[in-house]
Amino acid sequence: MNGFPAVRLRRLRATEALRRMTGLALPGPEKFVWPVFVVSGRKRREEISAMPGQYRLSGDELLRELAPVVKQGIGGVLLFGVPDGGKDARGSAAFHPKAAVQQALRSIRREFPELVVISDVCLCAYTNHGHCGVLTKAGEVDNDATLKLLAKTALSHAEAGAHIVAPSAMMDGQVAAIRGALDGAGFTATGLMSYSTKFASAMYGPFREAEQSAPKSGDRRGYQASAADLRTALRESALDEAEGADILMVKPALFYLDVITRLRQQTKLPIAAYNVSGEYAMLHATAARGWGDLSAMVREATLALARAGTDIFISYWANRYEELLKP
Ligand code: PBG
Ligand code: ZN
Repeated sequence: MNGFPAVRLRRLRATEALRRMTGLALPGPEKFVWPVFVVSGRKRREEISAMPGQYRLSGDELLRELAPVVKQGIGGVLLFGVPDGGKDARGSAAFHPKAAVQQALRSIRREFPELVVISDVCLCAYTNHGHCGVLTKAGEVDNDATLKLLAKTALSHAEAGAHIVAPSAMMDGQVAAIRGALDGAGFTATGLMSYSTKFASAMYGPFREAEQSAPKSGDRRGYQASAADLRTALRESALDEAEGADILMVKPALFYLDVITRLRQQTKLPIAAYNVSGEYAMLHATAARGWGDLSAMVREATLALARAGTDIFISYWANRYEELLKP
């Protein structure tokens, strides 16, 4: 009785209803977080050539764009700011109380009270050298000097209304520094989602175009995790958990399913997977050439992330949930 012909696995795959009943459901829209790029001013809507369907938007345009997304039941947004110049060595525009992100945080909280509003905390879009932290005289990223600036940035986002701040700079001790600053200022309820296991990846290209945040010289391998070192990648998340992160993250997502699965075994915290810009562009490019069906590819990729153990899906597909992912 242990094998064919008594056992026929095709029985439970015979109809759509059977497949749905026995299989894993696609995650609902409430599990999705949409990353968005915010610029200052009004009525600005700039295409990002490497990310079809995604734009750099001024606050007013972002609110307009969010209305139908919120209606689809999307869980949250993750805000990235794109400054118009004004970059300096310390990235001080990152913590200006009236910068584009801080303004957008206030207006989104006002207009869409049901949406979870998350802000990316990093300096790379604001530094004139494009690194995620300040540099020493020798040109190295100065870990401990960077912590203070990240904490200031996170605090300015919390003051503007972020439910959750999300540090992505991969500095050692950044979670503890930010948690301490938030608690010290009374923001004990502000959550902290750490980009805890963030790899030095070749899949961030389109994002760096969108954010104009590529390093002017060198690369990020001195601070982002190595794809070749699984154990250290897992320690990154373990340390952030010990420092007080509420949510952990693996980024990129699809190239690192094994890391998500291992992390699922290591922690009881929620795990976010960041389906990054290069992964988005990859499926888009395939579909645009007529080599694959976009919705089918996005569903398959999303199921893979769900199977691996993802709780929260950070995804540029989120604004097209109904079209691409609705069961
Ligand atoms: C930088 C940051 C990056 C992304 C999010 N925050 C890229 C980088 O490290 O250069 C990538 C997101 C994406 O590719 O979609 N702090
Ligand atoms: Zn950065």
